[in-house]
Amino acid sequence: MLAIIGGTGLTQLDNLEITKRLIVRTPYGEPSQPLIFGEIEGREVIFLARHGNGHTIPPHAVNYRANIFALHLQGVTEIAAVATVGGIAADLTPGTIVMPDQIIDYTNGRKSSFFDGIDMPVKHIDFTHPYCEDMRAIWLEAAQSIHESLVTRGIYAATQGPRLETAAEINRLDRDGATIVGMTGMPEAALARELGISYAAICPVANHAAGRGNSEHGIQYEDVIENLNKTMARVRNIIAALVKYNGLCKINPRKMKVSQHGS
Ligand code: HPA
Repeated sequence: MLAIIGGTGLTQLDNLEITKRLIVRTPYGEPSQPLIFGEIEGREVIFLARHGNGHTIPPHAVNYRANIFALHLQGVTEIAAVATVGGIAADLTPGTIVMPDQIIDYTNGRKSSFFDGIDMPVKHIDFTHPYCEDMRAIWLEAAQSIHESLVTRGIYAATQGPRLETAAEINRLDRDGATIVGMTGMPEAALARELGISYAAICPVANHAAGRGNSEHGIQYEDVIENLNKTMARVRNIIAALVKYNGLCKINPRKMKVSQHGS
C-alpha cells in the first residue's frame, strides 16, 4: 500500500475520500497524528501530516521513527514524501517541483535508526541511492501523463532547523553540491529504507534559499506560504497521478543488502 507523508502546505489532501482515522501506538511512541485512511480515485492510500494536525511539530521534534513504524505496521510498502524546500541552484525558482535523487544530511541529535536499542544488533543499510530509483522513474511517467513537469534530479541538503539558514550556510551547502534545502528529509528516508519501504520525495520549491535570488536580503515566511499554496494544487494533481501508478515499483528494498556490524 502507498502512504503519502505531507509537509508544510500539505496538512490535508483535498482529493482524498477519507474512510477512517486510526490512532496507532508504536514501540517508538505515537506518530504525528492518527493515520488517515482513504481513497484517491478509487485507490486506497494512507495520509500522514508530518507536522501534525495543526502544523505544531517542528522538524527537529517530529517523531520520524514512530511515523515510519506506524505506516509499516499498516502494511505500507511505498511512501511518497512531500517536503517543501528552498532552492539553492539558480534555476530552482519558487514554484519548481523537484524529485531529488541524493541527500546530504546536516541534521543532528535526531533518532535516526530503528537498530539502536539494548540487545539490538547494529545494522548498516546500503544508502548509496537514498531514494527508490524505480519509484522515481514511475513517478516521472505519472507526472508526464498529466503534463506536469518535474525536475528529476536534485541534491537535498537536510538541515536541522527550525530556523532558516544563513547566507554563508547556503554558500557552504552549494559548495558541497546541494541544490535544494529542507529540514525534514532525514532521517525519514533512511528509516524507510531500514524497514524495506520504497521511498521517494516530491519537493516543491517555496523560496530562493537564504542569500539567493529575491532572498538576498531575507526570507519572508508569508511569501513562502503564498508560493506554496500556489504550487500545492499541482502537487495534489501529481499525487493523484502517481497513485494510479503505485504498486509498480520493481525493486523491493527489503531484498537489498543490509550488513551487520562486524559481519
Ligand atoms: N530552508 C530550509 N527549509 C526550507 C526552506 C529553506 O529555505 N524553504 C522551505 N523549507
